[in-house]
Amino acid sequence: MDKDAIVEQLYTSFIGKGEIFNRNFNEILLKALDSVSDGISFCDKNGYLLYVNKACCEIVGADKEELLNKKVDSLSPDKPMLIEVIEKEKSIIDIEYFWNFKGKKTHLINSGYPIFDEDGTIIGAIDIFRSIERSRKLANTIAGHQAFFMFDDIVGESNNLKEVINLAKTFSKSNESILIYGETGTGKELFAQSIHNYSNRKRKPFVALNCANLPNELIDSELFGYEEGAFTGARKGGKPGKFELANGGTLFLDELGEMQIHIQAKLLRVLETMCINRIGGNKPINVDVRIIAATNRNLEEMVEEGKFRRDLYYRLKVLYLEIPSLKDRKHDILLLADYFVKKLVNKGNKYVKGLDNKAKEMLMKHSWKGNVRELENVISRSMFICDGEWITESVLVTAGFQELKYEEIIKKESIKISKDILMNTLNSTEGNKKKAAEILGVSRPTLYKFLKKYGL
Ligand SMILES: Nc1ncnc2c1ncn2[C@@H]1O[C@H](COP(=O)(O)OP(=O)(O)OP(=O)(O)O)[C@@H](O)[C@H]1O
Ligand SMILES: [Mg+2]
Repeated sequence: MDKDAIVEQLYTSFIGKGEIFNRNFNEILLKALDSVSDGISFCDKNGYLLYVNKACCEIVGADKEELLNKKVDSLSPDKPMLIEVIEKEKSIIDIEYFWNFKGKKTHLINSGYPIFDEDGTIIGAIDIFRSIERSRKLANTIAGHQAFFMFDDIVGESNNLKEVINLAKTFSKSNESILIYGETGTGKELFAQSIHNYSNRKRKPFVALNCANLPNELIDSELFGYEEGAFTGARKGGKPGKFELANGGTLFLDELGEMQIHIQAKLLRVLETMCINRIGGNKPINVDVRIIAATNRNLEEMVEEGKFRRDLYYRLKVLYLEIPSLKDRKHDILLLADYFVKKLVNKGNKYVKGLDNKAKEMLMKHSWKGNVRELENVISRSMFICDGEWITESVLVTAGFQELKYEEIIKKESIKISKDILMNTLNSTEGNKKKAAEILGVSRPTLYKFLKKYGL
C-alpha cells in the first residue's frame, strides 16, 4: 500500500466517507468543538486568546468578540489558569477556579494543558472547563456523598428562622452531635447540609442514611459494614458501612425516630467510643465522624413511652435545633413563593411574573401542614398550569390548591387531578410518567391510578 493510500485510509476511518469527508475539515472541527457543553479556550504562548468555543462564551457570559485576541490576564483580575500553564509548562487538572468577567464571578472546575511543537517548545495552552454545579452533580451521582446546600440557600427573613440559622452556624464550628427537630418539609436536610458545608469538615464526605427507608436488619450493615462471608449474600471483599464512608466528615441520620431500639444501643456505643466493628469482623476501626440527626417525631414522648433510648437521646441532643414551621413564620410564605417562581422561571420553561394579590391572600390563609415542601409543590403545579403572566386564585384552584389537604396527601395521596391537567402534564414531559408525577407532586402509583381512571 503506498503512502497516499494509507493516509486516505486513515482519514476515512476517522471521519468516514461521504458528505462529511468532502467538507472543509477545519470547519467540521470547529463545529464539533462548538457542540460540546464544556467551555474550551486556547491562547498562544504570549497569552492572547486565539479560540473560544460557544460554551465558553455562554458559561462566562461574554461574546466571542469580547474575548478573542485579548490577553487572558486582561480579562480577569485573578491570574488565569492559561497563564499559569504557560509559565509552568505543565498541565493543571480539575482545579476549582473563578473567572471574574465584567463583575460576574463564575465558579468553575478547570483543566489546562500546555501545547508543544515538535521540538518540545511551548506554543500555547488550552483549557477545558465546566460550571462547578455540573461537576458537583457528577460527583454526587457517582459517590452520593456530598452536601450541596449552604446557609445562603435557606430563604427566609423571619426572626425565628434567622435565630435558628445563627445557632446552627455556631454549632457548625463544634464537633458535638446535633439533633434537628422540625415538622415535615421544614428544611431539616437543608440545615444538615448547610451545617456540614459551614464546618471545617466541608471538604470531607457528607453521608446520609435514612433510618425509615431500610429494614432494621439492613441498618446494621449499612451503618457498620460487614466483612466478607459475614452472612449469606455478603459481598466479596466485604463492604464499608456509613460510619467508615463518612470518616472525617458528617453522618446525617435522617428520620432517627424510626430507628429500632436494638440499633439505638449499637449506635450509642459507637458514639461513645468512636470505634466500629464491621459485622463478622474482629478488627475495631477508629472513626472520626460528626453526627447530625433529624426527626419530625417527638423523641421526648418516645423516651417516656420506652420507644427511644433516653441515653441516646441525651447523647445526640448535645446541640439542639428546632426549625420553625411555616405557619409560625408567615412573613416567609410570600418570600418563598416568589423564590420558587423565580427558580422555575430561571430553569427556562416558562415566564411568570409572580402571584397576584388574591393568590397571595390565599397562600397566607393556608395552614401549611406540609411546610416549605408543600409550598414548593403548589408553586410548581401552578407555574405549570398558568398561561398568563400572573398566578391567580383560579390558577391555584385549578392546581388543586383549595381542596388540597396536605396531611391526606402525605398519608393517602387523596389528591384530585383533572384529565386535562394530567394530559397536559404528560404532553409536556413527552409521556415521561416519572417526571409527570414529580411535577404534579404525587407518587407514581397515584399517577397510574388516574391514568387508569381516565382510560389513558
Ligand atoms: N428555607 C428554605 N428555603 C428554600 N428552600 C427550602 C427552605 N426550606 C425547605 N426548602 C425546600 O423544601 C424542600 C424540603 O426540605 P427538606 O427536605 O430539607 O425538608 P425536611 O424537613 O427534611 O422534610 P421531611 O421531614 O419531609 O424529610 C426541599 O426542596 C428544600 O430545598
Ligand atoms: Mg428530610
